[in-house]
Amino acid sequence: MRVSMMGAGYVGLVSGACFADFGHQVTCIDKDAAKIAALKRGEIPIFEPGLAELVESNMRQGRLEFAAKASRIGEADVGTGDEIENILREQRPEADIQVVSNPEFLREGAAIRDFKHPDRIVVGAEDERARSVLAEIYRPLYLNAPPIIYVSRRTAELIKYASNAFLATKVTFINEIADLCEQVGADVQEVARGMGLDNRIGGKFLHPGPGFGGSCFPKDTTALIKTAHDHGVPLRLVETVAAVNEQRKRAMARKVVVALGGSVRGKTIAVLGLTFKPNTDDTRDSPAIPLITALHDLGATVRGYDPAGMEQAKPLLPDVHYCQSAYAAAEGADALVIATEWEQFRALDLARLKAVMAQPVIVDLRNIYRSDEMRRAAFRYVPIGRAGVE
Ligand SMILES: NC(=O)c1ccc[n+]([C@@H]2O[C@H](COP(=O)([O-])OP(=O)(O)OC[C@H]3O[C@@H](n4cnc5c(N)ncnc54)[C@H](O)[C@@H]3O)[C@@H](O)[C@H]2O)c1
Repeated sequence: MRVSMMGAGYVGLVSGACFADFGHQVTCIDKDAAKIAALKRGEIPIFEPGLAELVESNMRQGRLEFAAKASRIGEADVGTGDEIENILREQRPEADIQVVSNPEFLREGAAIRDFKHPDRIVVGAEDERARSVLAEIYRPLYLNAPPIIYVSRRTAELIKYASNAFLATKVTFINEIADLCEQVGADVQEVARGMGLDNRIGGKFLHPGPGFGGSCFPKDTTALIKTAHDHGVPLRLVETVAAVNEQRKRAMARKVVVALGGSVRGKTIAVLGLTFKPNTDDTRDSPAIPLITALHDLGATVRGYDPAGMEQAKPLLPDVHYCQSAYAAAEGADALVIATEWEQFRALDLARLKAVMAQPVIVDLRNIYRSDEMRRAAFRYVPIGRAGVE
């Protein structure tokens, strides 16, 4: 089949490359001419594990090509399908075109695997021909037998927004439970495990942290809230989730202040992880941004390190001293904050850190260390929702 992909970003490029890998003939189109020129030269504009190899092999085999062109696509929203259909009918009244909603659920950092092994494929189409085209595009996945759900276009759009709003709610729920754990002396990791073993709840998205970020949850919860308002059906639960999450991101700096005895003025803070999650270079709406902005506002100097996202972070956080490793960032720091759980931060050499830091203080916003190992290494340790080391 021939597939044109509008937008060659985190989703379009991954999906386009995967469709090409299935054997389809794919053209990825983007309004960003520089991005397309780079792709044509074989340069991958984003960091996503396995993507460079996939793009390279499909280009070499002649199934994946790129073209620069701006198309009229607006903000994605519930009802976008109708808007696109109106534009097409207006511009090409004679054309036999069907607009289908086929939301993508991949996660950055595991995007290729998620695309090729989806939990479900959602096809929102009113027309039988459109359904059969989509069925044919996804036919190479039939061996793994992912369920394909055929629904109306509006329903497909809402499945996407409701799914992301639900996951955002789950994250926010455990974040609030973590705050309560801190006050009542419970351990949020054990609470989450105890909850998650219940199949009705499930353990995923029950990891407490500095608040959700990224390009999807904040945008999709906002879009859902707006759509609901426009239709006179306010979604109070989702509104509260969005508000609580915003507050939480700002409140994380407070944890650092408390860990340093009440002030960070004149202090140096090392922040490890600037992307919104590991294995991506995406810093959109990353919780590290409000954290670092607040630390700067409170008079601290921030040294930052991220394995993939430093170039993206620079325009957003120009005052950070960017370093080439976790240990370089820790040099002279009064506290080290783990903002993103990259694998390489999970087994840091604590003795080496201690030797270069001004004070042995770690604020672990992702709960990747245990308090007993921090106690042994003589660090003051502040995790989320469980006992740390004073
Ligand atoms: N990032 C994710 O993890 C994820 C997962 C599932 C779904 N989605 C959804 O996929 C969509 C794209 O997200 P993304 O993260 O890939 O964004 P992105 O910003 O990485 O990519 C969007 C691309 O589209 C291009 N573009 C924008 N307007 C255009 C136009 N008018 N004509 C041609 N090209 C245009 C941009 O230049 C950019 O390269 C969003 O609706 C998002 O909600 C994202």
